[in-house]
Amino acid sequence: MEIIANDIHKGNLLLVNSEYPLLKEDCHDLVYCNDKVRIKKIVYQLIEMIKEDLGMQDDIVYVSGFRTFAYQKKIYDDTLKTHGQEYTAKYVAKAGCSEHLLGLAIDLGKKMDEIDYICPELPYDGKFALFRQKLWENGFIERYQVGKQEVTKISAEPWHFRYVGYPHSLIMKNNNWSLEEYHQHLKAYDHQHPLRYKNCTIFYLKPLEKVNTTASCYQISGNNFDGCIVTLFEVESHE
Ligand code: DAL
Ligand code: ZN
Repeated sequence: MEIIANDIHKGNLLLVNSEYPLLKEDCHDLVYCNDKVRIKKIVYQLIEMIKEDLGMQDDIVYVSGFRTFAYQKKIYDDTLKTHGQEYTAKYVAKAGCSEHLLGLAIDLGKKMDEIDYICPELPYDGKFALFRQKLWENGFIERYQVGKQEVTKISAEPWHFRYVGYPHSLIMKNNNWSLEEYHQHLKAYDHQHPLRYKNCTIFYLKPLEKVNTTASCYQISGNNFDGCIVTLFEVESHE
């Protein structure tokens, strides 16, 4: 099977930030999580599965998911008016620079009477600790962590999760890498010298570069700046 890096602006691993913005939102495969919030179907299905497994259906609220370019601009402008420049720069990305445009980012809050839309509360302790652990295991990262502000340019956001897919979420967690740092590290791994994690083989491809593989399954994602990441999955044969 031949794999070609032909779209660096598509996939679960896209890096979207103030340095690498998107021109347009991606409104494919969206589903409603409640009457206001939409996200990509895979994201919704995984979170629902985790909530159900942990018996947490009534504990967690979908606060914000997919946003259009225009809506992100409105949130930014409104927050600027109500909370000022310093707060807005900490917690709201400029239009185009928000990964909410991908439909792969979700803000989750603990169910309570009053929920802050920009900074909802999601605890780290008790059953929420287990919920967080399950998110990492199922392909989600806590995108803006304490200590990474210099790299992400956004303050810690304990409520904001980004779907990147397995095993990337676990590799980032194990190494304490932000998505920005992960992409920098991945550039050192090519097809001949890949990164290996359990049954997965991961490497970087330059635009239009091709490789041949015998792997039973693969995924490819652009990084949104200069190439693609290939993930090969070796599934055990029982023949
Ligand atoms: N709160 C994140 C940074 C956003 O606005 O995309
Ligand atoms: Zn968010």
